[in-house]
Amino acid sequence: MSDATDARAREIMCANDRGGYTVPTARLYPHQWNWDSAFAALGFATFDLDRAWTELETLFEAQWPGGMVPHIVFRRDDDDYFPGIAEWGVERDPPTSGISQPPVAASVALDLYRQDPGAGEARLRALFPRLLAWHRWYRSARDPDGTGLVAVVHPWESGRDNSPDWDRAMSRMRVADLPAYTRRDTGHVAAELRPTQGDYDRFMTIVAHGRACGWDDEVMRTSCPLLVIDPATTFIALRADRDLAAIARIVGDEAVAREREAAAAHAAGGVRALWSDASGAYLARDVRTGASAGTVCIGAFTAFYAGLGSPALAGTLTRMLDRVSYALPSADPASESFDPRRYWRGPVWPQMNYLVGRGLAESGHADLAARLRDDLATLIADTGFHECFSPLDGTGTGGGDFTWTAALWLHWAAPSARSGR
Ligand code: GLC
Repeated sequence: MSDATDARAREIMCANDRGGYTVPTARLYPHQWNWDSAFAALGFATFDLDRAWTELETLFEAQWPGGMVPHIVFRRDDDDYFPGIAEWGVERDPPTSGISQPPVAASVALDLYRQDPGAGEARLRALFPRLLAWHRWYRSARDPDGTGLVAVVHPWESGRDNSPDWDRAMSRMRVADLPAYTRRDTGHVAAELRPTQGDYDRFMTIVAHGRACGWDDEVMRTSCPLLVIDPATTFIALRADRDLAAIARIVGDEAVAREREAAAAHAAGGVRALWSDASGAYLARDVRTGASAGTVCIGAFTAFYAGLGSPALAGTLTRMLDRVSYALPSADPASESFDPRRYWRGPVWPQMNYLVGRGLAESGHADLAARLRDDLATLIADTGFHECFSPLDGTGTGGGDFTWTAALWLHWAAPSARSGR
């Protein structure tokens, strides 16, 4: 059974390969996405390490001169996806979106290198200055107060589109007078599984703002309709800075190694400000109002991935797991905003369970890590390679034949992956 599931996972990855880059899934997401490509690389590395490096390299071809690595790379226009090239208004070759996504690529590059240092060294050296430029951009453009905490200018920048993390900030936002538009996502997936129309009007309000200012970092910082500190992007960037320091030592750049270690240490000091004793977790915070999001979401638990977990956080995580039947849900089942099938408001996401699970395994919580991994394996083996899953009854939700679900099966959840990690 497991051999057949492994074979199916490889088949999905190859079918989603558009030649050097992989789409997350056909039709719903027909372009190259930033962190999807990084997770795809982990999957490719289980059967084609050369192709894994290529996935990261094509992503960085789209890097902006200021260091930003965009969240979508448009190799061609495609009516299946909205907002497309025209709405983002980025006149670059290739065209891209105007925002970024959580910086997991340095950590993935380090994994690929460690798998085969001989094969990876030249490719790691070539990527190193690009990774560095991106990490420096994150600190200068998205850490508005120099606290080490990373703020996102759009929910899409966090990779967790309609998470309750953004509810308060989104509800404060004045929706712009937008030209009429047609969503494409609800043509591919049932509307009740996707963000609401109110969410989309706000998503598009921010896109219109960014396009109007040419995605200028300073204007986005001072007047973007949304600016929220995201615990997950903060923890992922912190881990990525440590991993980039390790890469810097491999390529012999001690000054950069120290620079990135200092950035990570500074961030580790800053995150205390996001801790809520009442919730037993790190919470998102609106930069404009200082208000906390007030609700526990999965991003909090990436603290383990950054080596900053605690017994209190493990307790909160355990309580969340005990309220569902499968794996770690994206939002707290005890909260009013919980919806087991609507995208980031409850479903189990493979890549988040992987990041948290890896962090748990690395920080002495082997049992909790195994619970996340075994549950994800059961969900995939029983129902297929869905984008995400209901944590209550295990049904698949979102898109099907999904690249990162296949990739993380091969890299992490599959029985065949377990000898390695
Ligand atoms: C959705 C997800 C985001 C992902 C993208 C492509 O927008 O929220 O995390 O990168 O789809 O899969």
